[in-house]
Amino acid sequence: MNNFIFENTTKTFFGKGCVREYLSCLSGHYGQNVMLAYGGGSIKKNGIYDEVMESLKKAGKNIIEFSGITANPTYAKVLEGARLARENKVELILGVGGGSVMDCCKAISMAAVYNGDIWADFWARPGIIEFEPLPLGVIVTVAGTGSEMNGGAVITNETLKIKTGRDYPKCNPKFTLMDPAYTYSVPKKQMVSGGFDILSHIMETYFSEPNEDNVSDDISEALMRGVIRDLRAAILNPQDYTARSNLMWESTMAENRIVKLGKRMDFECHQMEHQLGAYTNCNHGAGLAVLHPVYYRHIYQDGLSKFQKFAVNVWGISPEGKTQEELARAGVEALADFIKEIGLPTTLRELGVDESTDLKVIADSCNLALGSYKKMTHEEILEIFRECY
Ligand code: NZQ
Ligand code: ZN
Repeated sequence: MNNFIFENTTKTFFGKGCVREYLSCLSGHYGQNVMLAYGGGSIKKNGIYDEVMESLKKAGKNIIEFSGITANPTYAKVLEGARLARENKVELILGVGGGSVMDCCKAISMAAVYNGDIWADFWARPGIIEFEPLPLGVIVTVAGTGSEMNGGAVITNETLKIKTGRDYPKCNPKFTLMDPAYTYSVPKKQMVSGGFDILSHIMETYFSEPNEDNVSDDISEALMRGVIRDLRAAILNPQDYTARSNLMWESTMAENRIVKLGKRMDFECHQMEHQLGAYTNCNHGAGLAVLHPVYYRHIYQDGLSKFQKFAVNVWGISPEGKTQEELARAGVEALADFIKEIGLPTTLRELGVDESTDLKVIADSCNLALGSYKKMTHEEILEIFRECY
């Protein structure tokens, strides 16, 4: 194992009924003014909004609503939320939704208390934040990003055409409430996209050094087998509590920093998908599904031993009668078959990316990951995009 320091400051409440049980009491630790932030309204159809409102009213809170946070949240929406939070002297932000809502809320929690140019100072460059953002609590309604237990947020600056993410530990939610039954109403398309995002987070970590045996990779293999099993079960029966609860925790485990300990990490596919998203507003998990197999066909020879382990330990492929290369490649093709099986797009065309899209501009705007098995160039990224059509 490589050296590491670990801390995770988010207090996590998991299980059926946890919002009803804990939210009222939890919100009591913060001031009167609570900003309730959510997306396009799914929480009003599935009853989550009513349950949350009831708990906040029971705690005697003054509720300021902030709705309409879209998928791939924009910097403009962040600034709108920050203005509202300032005007109403908000003392707790409560984000109810998926990655988009949680990320937007994290960005608002910083923008609401920072006086300078928050994009230039924090989103446009790596660094640390030395002030306390507004306290944030989250209620997760769809499994996927794992944003509920880390300080990561991904924001799209529409003017600059940049979709970028940062992980500031001070942005870790103070608390997260995770009721797997809340995810029953997620449409299949979004469920498989979120599910693939979980798998992608684990693969982006697993396919990097060290290559020798290590605890992080061992946990990752178990998590990947779990995601594959639980997605299949949740597709068959969307109300399968075992599958939904496993998926919800697998999503958190993939991104709560535990499987990343001592790992270099790749995340080149995420870099590519984020820029594809900045230019086309495509769905995150679906974009990753298109990119991953093609990217892995480009890099597996540089990480042969890990790709062989992936084939055997994750997909159960027998090494018998196969060369090392055939075995490694079989794992990548098993991943591609699974993507088809669960109904995710396999080409940029299926993803809805218009043929007139300038893929070279997008490829040139991608960051080049430092920890991948094969150092990419912008030319090779363009090749990958073209092969994805
Ligand atoms: O907006 P509403 O009406 O609520 O509908 C949402 C939205 O349309 C719907 N939904 C959520 N819960 C539901 C539900 N529909 C019915 N029942 C429910 N219980 O699902 C749709 C998608 O929601 P969204 O939050 O956009 O999905 P996801 O969780 O996949 O988040 C994607 C965003 O997170 C970023 C992505 O880039 C993208 O912007 N990411 C954030 C990361 C992080 N913070 O660490 C890491 C990821 O790699 C990722 O980049
Ligand atoms: Zn992701």
